[in-house]
Amino acid sequence: MLRVMSVFGTRPEAIKMAPLVRELASRPEIESLCCVTAQHRQMLDSVLEVFDLKPDWDLDIMTPRQTLSTITSKCLLGMDEAIDALKPDMILVHGDTSTTFAGALSAFYHQVPVGHVEAGLRTYDKYSPFPEEMNRKLVTSIADLYFCPTVNNKKNLLKEAVGESGIFITGNTVIDALKTTVREGYRFSTEELNHLPYGKKKLLLVTCHRRENYGEPMRNIMLALRQIAEENEDVELVYPVHLSPVVRQAVDEYLRGAPRTHLIDPLPADEMHNLMARSYLVLTDSGGLQEEAPALGKPVLVLRRETERPEAVAAGTVKLAGVDREKIVQMAEELIRSKEAYARMARAVNPYGDGFACRRIADAILWYFGKSQTRPEDYR
Ligand code: UD1
Ligand code: UDP
Repeated sequence: MLRVMSVFGTRPEAIKMAPLVRELASRPEIESLCCVTAQHRQMLDSVLEVFDLKPDWDLDIMTPRQTLSTITSKCLLGMDEAIDALKPDMILVHGDTSTTFAGALSAFYHQVPVGHVEAGLRTYDKYSPFPEEMNRKLVTSIADLYFCPTVNNKKNLLKEAVGESGIFITGNTVIDALKTTVREGYRFSTEELNHLPYGKKKLLLVTCHRRENYGEPMRNIMLALRQIAEENEDVELVYPVHLSPVVRQAVDEYLRGAPRTHLIDPLPADEMHNLMARSYLVLTDSGGLQEEAPALGKPVLVLRRETERPEAVAAGTVKLAGVDREKIVQMAEELIRSKEAYARMARAVNPYGDGFACRRIADAILWYFGKSQTRPEDYR
């Protein structure tokens, strides 16, 4: 049996790796192992519960207000033990977090081949997203297999002279996850969410957490959200606030108390996905939401200066709003007030996948180890 160990630690990695861990477990040739760093503790555990995953190893590294160096060093030390104990034939890491980088580096130190899920995303700005752009580039240097969501991601890797035989276009596993969570007639676990004025008011779903937005940009974003809530009586804002103390402080200082604004705790992934499916507009700096919302036909305003996910921008369902207060308000109000502007953006498109990414990744791993003669077809 091939021992394939998935390593992840934050909420988005867990949501996107959960369907893959399951797919790998369904293959008779593979033993699917799961090592969590718990870079996020509560937000990770929530995802493990939703997808019913039981880690084989838990590094339990999270501390409040952790720094990039503590995350990376604690992951590295912990991974030594996990790799010695579980003896994987391949390690899979996902995306761009500090867990991703440390997981890949540790695999390299142990000379275990690395598969990079969600490979090839780039902004070409070293400090934005920070530190994620650099994490992706460093993992590219280490990895053996590259699972790119889109053809554009593959092109980025080819430009960096990554060998074509290791690159697979698979679609993004987040679309696989969405297929399992969004349901008609879904009931939320809280009455606050069950009783939101769906259909009567325009529900704006908000998230914001990125390190490059800490400080002035986050203040601008919070003040823009307050202004949008104050100026538009037909709008209801729902904002599940990330557990980062830096984010919570900004929310408390600049947004708390705004009218028709629900500042709630982070939601379990299935609740979040179903809430998104019922929302009017998404305002976010999150990577994952930029991929999920277009699949659900929801327009997105990205609260960042750039994005490593240009596909939905090209498709017309996502726009970069930046981090300037007036600009965010103006772009949001155009979508709130103009039916035509809204209709142009609110179309379901799926540039990020068809829901079969995990199947392609598992097939590619079997092909790489010579357990299958057929290289999987690329997602187009
Ligand atoms: C991390 C990732 C980022 C990803 C984001 C997803 C890095 C450097 N950053 O950023 O790429 O987009 O996760 O959400 O890898 N906290 C809790 N409980 C939790 C989670 C977080 O209390 O369950 C608090 C802790 O005080 C922690 C802080 O949030 O120190 C920040 O967490 P951290 O993982 O360092 O950064 P994120 O901003 O979450
Ligand atoms: N998400 C969630 N609950 C929340 C907020 C977000 O389950 O309260 C999900 C969201 O649907 C997406 C993922 O978490 O699947 C995105 O994670 P996050 O925004 O933390 O990180 P990023 O994608 O920016 O790396």
